Amino acid sequence: MTFLSSLDDPADVPPHAASAPELAFQTVEPGDGQRWSTWPATTPSERGPMPRPAWLVTSAAAIDTELGVVKTGKEGDVFLIERAVPDAPPDVAGNHVVLAAKRYRGSEHSDFHRSAIYTEGRGLRRTRDVRAVARGTSFGRAVARVQWATAEFEALCRLTELGAAVPYPVQVSETEVLMEFIGDGRTAAPRLAQVRATPAELRDLFHQIVEFMHVLAANGLAHGDLSPYNLLVHRGRVVAIDLPQVVDLVSNPQGLDLLHRDCVNVCDWFTRQRLECDAEQLFGELVAVIW
Ligand SMILES: Nc1ncnc2c1ncn2[C@@H]1O[C@H](COP(=O)(O)OP(=O)(O)OP(=O)(O)O)[C@@H](O)[C@H]1O
Ligand SMILES: [Mg+2]
Repeated sequence: MTFLSSLDDPADVPPHAASAPELAFQTVEPGDGQRWSTWPATTPSERGPMPRPAWLVTSAAAIDTELGVVKTGKEGDVFLIERAVPDAPPDVAGNHVVLAAKRYRGSEHSDFHRSAIYTEGRGLRRTRDVRAVARGTSFGRAVARVQWATAEFEALCRLTELGAAVPYPVQVSETEVLMEFIGDGRTAAPRLAQVRATPAELRDLFHQIVEFMHVLAANGLAHGDLSPYNLLVHRGRVVAIDLPQVVDLVSNPQGLDLLHRDCVNVCDWFTRQRLECDAEQLFGELVAVIW
């Protein structure tokens, strides 16, 4: 079986690859709205960075179950997925987890208008793909949605490795990015835009966001679409999401403009909450740490 070659852990051996006598005990099969865990079929480069969190479910006996839509967005939809080993105690780490699956749509309804400025300086390698994406053919849209999923997954991996507060990226498969679900149970954490906080809490939230922006800038990066809608607040901690357009401040000629816009978006919201802050000052501080 081809996917066995990508396994990097003996625990990954799928039950459906078990020897014949063992198969007699294997009665669980995915039902409606379910599939075998897609983890075993991904290659190492399609998996999130080490160290892997203890809650990750890597067993190939696991089944993915669709729990519903978290939110439909401009470019894709976010679904809630349960990944669990049937009949294993769910409270033991590695047996059960709820994940967010962001699936890029790429139909005419999806909004890739922003792609041109973000991809400047990035470069698509295959000219056939470049032309197809530019013309917006159905093949071009299919290429684009895989590219955006890959771009978001890679950005999540890079930022996780830098220690920035983003959901842990579990894996990418074609147009689907599976990542840590930020929330409690099946309820997603609120976006910053929905949060009402005391002045002291606001100051703390603002400092966390500034810290996030500093880590990125010090590594030559900006979020590129930062706003109170792309920041989740979970138990007092800010987690940044929606990262396919992460901008390289060195190679992208529009990089500083996008960083400036991020500063304005963040400071405008905090100013409306009556927290004193200055977008120009923040921008200046961040430009000073870009290497
Ligand atoms: N990892 C996650 N954990 C919990 N909720 C999430 C997660 N990722 C996304 N969401 C929810 O799904 C929404 C849409 O996600 P995201 O912003 O990444 O997609 P989008 O296509 O850009 O959507 P939009 O057009 O609303 O910005 C978020 O606002 C958030 O409510
Ligand atoms: Mg968003």
